[in-house]
Amino acid sequence: MVYVAGIIVLLFSLAVEARIGDSSESSLCTETKECLLFNLTCTGEEYEVRQYETTKWVSAEVESVFMEVAINRAFWKLFKYIQGENDAGMKIEMTAPVLMKTQDSTSIWKSSAYTVSFLLPSIFQHSQSPPLPTDSSVYFSTMPDMKVYVKSYGGWLFGLTSRMKSRSLRQSLDAVDASYTKGFHYDVGYDSPTKMRDRHNEVWYIVEGEPVCPAAAE
Ligand SMILES: *[C@@H]1O[C@H](CO)[C@@H](O)[C@H](O)[C@H]1NC(C)=O
Repeated sequence: MVYVAGIIVLLFSLAVEARIGDSSESSLCTETKECLLFNLTCTGEEYEVRQYETTKWVSAEVESVFMEVAINRAFWKLFKYIQGENDAGMKIEMTAPVLMKTQDSTSIWKSSAYTVSFLLPSIFQHSQSPPLPTDSSVYFSTMPDMKVYVKSYGGWLFGLTSRMKSRSLRQSLDAVDASYTKGFHYDVGYDSPTKMRDRHNEVWYIVEGEPVCPAAAE
């Protein structure tokens, strides 16, 4: 019986969801079963352009002067939600990546809002409703289908790296007159803090209008 139910769930998730797939389909997700998939529009030395489809996420927003403090607090709320702090007491599997919406703030000492989001597993993307969070500050959100400019880097994600990498991507985009949404970017993490080697992080800006492809890599 359990076996049959397992197969039905498997077939079901294959049928309804192509945007979130098995991590074997992406080299970026190494620690989770499911991974957010995308179509690569073009790639070059400075950045790449990707296309994502509409996806559902669970989110929490925390304000702080320090990115690390805000991210940790929001991450913990979401972690408790997937560990069973929801109206069904259901454990939900961790997915990748984790998305962090970060303001392009000018002052380091100004408090700012950070939104952290976990991607809901494929079974909760279309057919089934995810269990409701018991923490009222945890909520569901939708990422619309969109194209993004992406810059990848290794190591660990901190407030400082977020500022440096986002500035560097903005400079690359401004140099080719690319239009993108101003005022915030996404910091994107694929690895748990305990992973030591081959770490992968990204910074995203949302494409406005037609994307400008980067110069080809040498
Ligand atoms: C990638 O493109 C194919 C063909 O247009 C489409 O069917 C698929 O849904 C796209 N996937 C994403 C993640 O955008």
